[in-house]
Amino acid sequence: MNIAVFHGSPREGNTYRATGIFMDELRKCGGVTFTEFRLPKDLPAFCTGCSLCLGGWRDKCPNARYSDPIVEAIQSADALVFAAPHYGACSMPGSMKNLFDHIDFMVLNVAPMPEMFEKKAFLITTGAGSTAVAKPMRSFLRHCGINRCYSIGIRMYTNAWDKMPAAKQARHELKLRKAARKFYRAKKGRPYLSTIFYYYIVKAITIRMIGEGHYAYDNWKAKGYLDKRPF
Ligand SMILES: Cc1cc2nc3c(=O)[nH]c(=O)nc-3n(C[C@H](O)[C@H](O)[C@H](O)COP(=O)(O)O)c2cc1C
Repeated sequence: MNIAVFHGSPREGNTYRATGIFMDELRKCGGVTFTEFRLPKDLPAFCTGCSLCLGGWRDKCPNARYSDPIVEAIQSADALVFAAPHYGACSMPGSMKNLFDHIDFMVLNVAPMPEMFEKKAFLITTGAGSTAVAKPMRSFLRHCGINRCYSIGIRMYTNAWDKMPAAKQARHELKLRKAARKFYRAKKGRPYLSTIFYYYIVKAITIRMIGEGHYAYDNWKAKGYLDKRPF
């Protein structure tokens, strides 16, 4: 299993530590390789808003030298892991939001990647508001048509893992290892009802309001999505 991992905290703190435990357990399950990206280091430039990717010219993205390897890793991975701490201001660190901005063309209403319909994803979030950060991340991945998305929220109430009492550290570690084993075993499921519902809404909008000559319509038509649900 080839897993693309996105580390969303700029420091090697709680989230990095939690993700390390999760990855360690996956490694123990056997046959797992990781392609890791550290944010913002591996995507140090902001989306410029040029919208070229939304018009079918993704190769002309001004940040393609950073975003191309990321898109390729997502495409070829069997599974995806996104890890982010909760930042009170708008839930996720800017670097994770910047990653999502660079891959936003993958949403169902523009140019969904058929590979996404086969994949599973796991979200690791830390901080007291960890569910608040998982929510928009999960929603984005579902809009991309991800087959399964799981998550774990770790509330440490400290910005240093080692400052937690030993028993609490052990409890979190146990939870992460159990979640990793479950994620490893998770099989492809039926598409989410919400994704099916979203597909029909997007299809109606694409036909009635977007129309020929626009990338979203032409791409959907070329791939046969206007005729048949692709997942
Ligand atoms: C800019 C910033 C804003 C934060 N805002 C919140 C917050 O609103 N709620 C919360 O529970 N934790 C907040 N935190 C704490 C982190 O979510 C928490 O310590 C997290 O585990 C840090 O992850 P890291 O060590 O991987 O960077 C914030 C941290 C930073 C740096």
